[in-house]
Amino acid sequence: MENVSIGLLGLGTVGSGVVHIIHEHQDKLQHQLGCHVEIKKILVKDMGKPRDIYLNGAVLTQDVNEIIDDPEIDVVIEVMGSVEDTKEYVKRALKNKKHIVTANKDMMALYGNDLLELAHENGSDFYYEASVAGGIPIIRSLVDGLASDKLTKLMGILNGTTNFILTKMSQEGREYEDVLQEAQALGFAEADPTSDVEGLDAARKLNILGALGFSMKIDLDDVSVRGISNVTKNDLEFCHQLGYTMKLIALAERTDGKVEVSVEPTLIPNEHPLATVNNEFNAIYVNGEAIGELMFSGPGAGSLPTATAVVSDLITVIKNMNLGVTGNSMTPPQFEKQLKSDDE
Ligand code: NAP
Ligand code: HSE
Repeated sequence: MENVSIGLLGLGTVGSGVVHIIHEHQDKLQHQLGCHVEIKKILVKDMGKPRDIYLNGAVLTQDVNEIIDDPEIDVVIEVMGSVEDTKEYVKRALKNKKHIVTANKDMMALYGNDLLELAHENGSDFYYEASVAGGIPIIRSLVDGLASDKLTKLMGILNGTTNFILTKMSQEGREYEDVLQEAQALGFAEADPTSDVEGLDAARKLNILGALGFSMKIDLDDVSVRGISNVTKNDLEFCHQLGYTMKLIALAERTDGKVEVSVEPTLIPNEHPLATVNNEFNAIYVNGEAIGELMFSGPGAGSLPTATAVVSDLITVIKNMNLGVTGNSMTPPQFEKQLKSDDE
């Protein structure tokens, strides 16, 4: 394969990062993969928007069909957000045998299993590392690195916007609204930040990680969710005086064969490693029967960190294409079993 053609859905915070990394790291990609990686077309909503990014010949379009029906496009990278229409675009791309990379946790939490099944049926690769914890390779770690263990607990800071707000309110004494606006300007927050500040974004990510870590389908309705919109500077000051730091913690814990799941503002002792995870950084603290405790941390939101995860998924897809072994995904184990028995 001399050339791999990409269709990019979305050129916002994450999409711009993807364009930047593919352009800046083209030599490395060429060396690693033995082919040229080209972004052929990019879907946007507003053609007239000023864009301070070098597109290297990629053509902007408002017509998604120009991408998903283009026989020359091998991989569709979905970084446009939203759920219902986007899910239909992804399904149509899969039916057209495109491989998919997505950062869309909302879509994955609600329709992930259907999409993974459709990818499997069509022999397409389907990767979604950037959907949880931005640049931290947590999905790969759960699916591959910790595949041999039985997890007992996953506890983490899974939302960058709320961690940024809590950090700035408590360390700099700033007002909630003011910091939220900064998180929006920096591209950390969702288009509608309600899902960030009310805990739903973290709950959806927990749903994805829970399925991968505990081999169980976690229904979003089973997650007890509370956000940070009512937290005041006084609350944070009071916690500090008592030796605690408040974090929005997503927790999944296995007890007696059941997994308890919650997202809520939680007081963490100042000496606990999670208490020192600040700003838009995320962290996931994992307990396994064999491994004991380990923690992953890093930038959980933002353009280049998130795009790093997206482009790494793209590299995996191209390697699979080179080997002629497509039809792979980071699949929840219970679903993998189901796919195998369907094939038999
Ligand atoms: P964003 O900055 O709002 O960008 C969205 C892009 O998609 C824009 O380029 C927009 O076009 C385009 N778009 C949206 N709706 C469209 C439609 N109906 N038709 C055509 N184009 C459309 O969003 P983002 O922050 O990059 O996030 C993208 C996805 O990544 C979301 O699923 C988000 O949850 C996920 N994610 C984001 C981050 C982060 O740090 N931002 C981290 C991890 C995952 P215009 O440019 O013309 O407006
Ligand atoms: N809005 C999300 C956050 C983006 O703040 O964590 C990364 O998924």
